[in-house]
Amino acid sequence: MEQKWWHDAVVYQIYPRSFLDSNNDGIGDLNGIISKLDYLKLLGINVIWLSPVYQSPMDDNGYDISDYQAIAEEFGSMEDMKRLMDEAKKRDIKIVMDLVVNHTSDEHRWFEQARSSKDNPYRDYYIWRDAKPDGSAPDDQQSIFGGSAWQWDEQTEQYYFHLFSKRQPDLNWENPKVQEEVHQMMNWWIDLGIGGFRLDVIDLIGKEIDKGITGNGPRLHSLLKQMNQATFGNKDLLTVGETWGATPEIAKLYSAQDRDELSMVFQFEHITLTWENGDKWNPIPLDLREFKNVLTKWQVELADDGWNSLFWNNHDLPRLVSKYGDDKKYRVESAKMLATCLHFLKGTPYIYQGEEIGMTNVAFDTLEQYKDIETHNFYKVKTEAGVTHEHMMGAIHENSRDNARTPMHWDNKPNGGFTEGTPWIELNPNFPEINVESALSDPNSIFFHYQKLIELRKAHPVIVYGSFTPVFEEHDQVFAYVRELDGEKLFVVCNFSNDNLTLDMPEQYQTQTLDCLINNYQTITELSAKLELAPYESFAVKL
Ligand code: GLC
Ligand code: CA
Repeated sequence: MEQKWWHDAVVYQIYPRSFLDSNNDGIGDLNGIISKLDYLKLLGINVIWLSPVYQSPMDDNGYDISDYQAIAEEFGSMEDMKRLMDEAKKRDIKIVMDLVVNHTSDEHRWFEQARSSKDNPYRDYYIWRDAKPDGSAPDDQQSIFGGSAWQWDEQTEQYYFHLFSKRQPDLNWENPKVQEEVHQMMNWWIDLGIGGFRLDVIDLIGKEIDKGITGNGPRLHSLLKQMNQATFGNKDLLTVGETWGATPEIAKLYSAQDRDELSMVFQFEHITLTWENGDKWNPIPLDLREFKNVLTKWQVELADDGWNSLFWNNHDLPRLVSKYGDDKKYRVESAKMLATCLHFLKGTPYIYQGEEIGMTNVAFDTLEQYKDIETHNFYKVKTEAGVTHEHMMGAIHENSRDNARTPMHWDNKPNGGFTEGTPWIELNPNFPEINVESALSDPNSIFFHYQKLIELRKAHPVIVYGSFTPVFEEHDQVFAYVRELDGEKLFVVCNFSNDNLTLDMPEQYQTQTLDCLINNYQTITELSAKLELAPYESFAVKL
């Protein structure tokens, strides 16, 4: 496999709205990010994935773009954006932009043109269909945010297609003009000096509407090859696709080096295990065996071909320590354990803002305190279908996207130092205990654990390129594995439970000479016949 700069990179995702507000209007902004670049440098990351900062009416917090080449006023200006890129570059940090091209905002110039008349030259930039004879929608395809995927347009008397909110009309990727416009726009950003793209719901662009195929459509990979050729192909950028429907086979189509498509994709198989029948509003407990099987499968299948991206959470998902750890008694231990488990896998790790200080889910009392369009849409759809308010609030506490979107905790001052104004969404009330200032004053904090994990990745090629072999495969509380490269061998053990455990160590791993790389209780000095593990204990040793 040809080595790439992004193979040993560690990416930090910023959700700008919730990161840091520099002008006290209650909304995080680019100047806020610039002022924290030294903090990110201290953590050790070298790439920022910036969630959308483009001009947008913010129906979906910026994932509804009305101008791809302008910055939303509430986030700053194009000058601020350029300054962010310059300042990041001084610190060897690259900026990866969020590319949202499955759809635009309904306020995008293209859509405003398109909806003005049936024969407008932009009409075909979007997907329009006639009503059924009885006036109803062309078919019963559903929006990912709930309700029909078709919206009636009064003026031109046709339905348009939207897989997300009705204010996010889907672009028609069958139209070569759409492809060209998007490529031009991407090249404009590339010329500005960005480090790559995170491609939002990219597996939807090959859709075949009339057959009801949305994900993994027949034209998907040819579209990506064209995009690659027309834009980032020879630019050595990091490109990561968001692909909810990817299997390892599909992931290789995107990310095998000879395919000339993307660097890697985000797969979600491990995430949806805690959603009953794929429904996040019916959360179910984690089955660690299944979780290990999924992650092991991805490690093994992408060993020589393709590349994994590694993540436990992002701006759409609950906080990792609440979902997979213990956000109360063992918050610190379990946060470190989860970090160790992920960062020793093969692939490129992604850290979501606040993860590095162990931020937790929030549980607001009322629906009104939530701001996310998905949460509100589904509350309505589900309660109208008979689901109780209590059930929905429970599911929202567990899986609402706002869990990840409450503001970052910088210190214990009012509003956690995020703003001196009124924050656009309330803070998690635990900010006085969990915040950056206190993390930086404690050498044993979760923050410094992440810092160490990042240093280890840079220092040990085995973490980046080594083979992966699962250990204790049948155990339902422990995830353990060995990584190996050129005679260097690492053994990683993670207790995912709050039990004290005793394991029988396979003979081959018993040793009195080892080097403990990282741990979350005491340093490991030897491995004997019995391995005792404290709740959420984890370590990585060099054998
Ligand atoms: C992706 C984004 C999500 C957004 C959706 C529509 O899933 O991560 O935040 O709402 O696409 O753009
Ligand atoms: Ca602001």
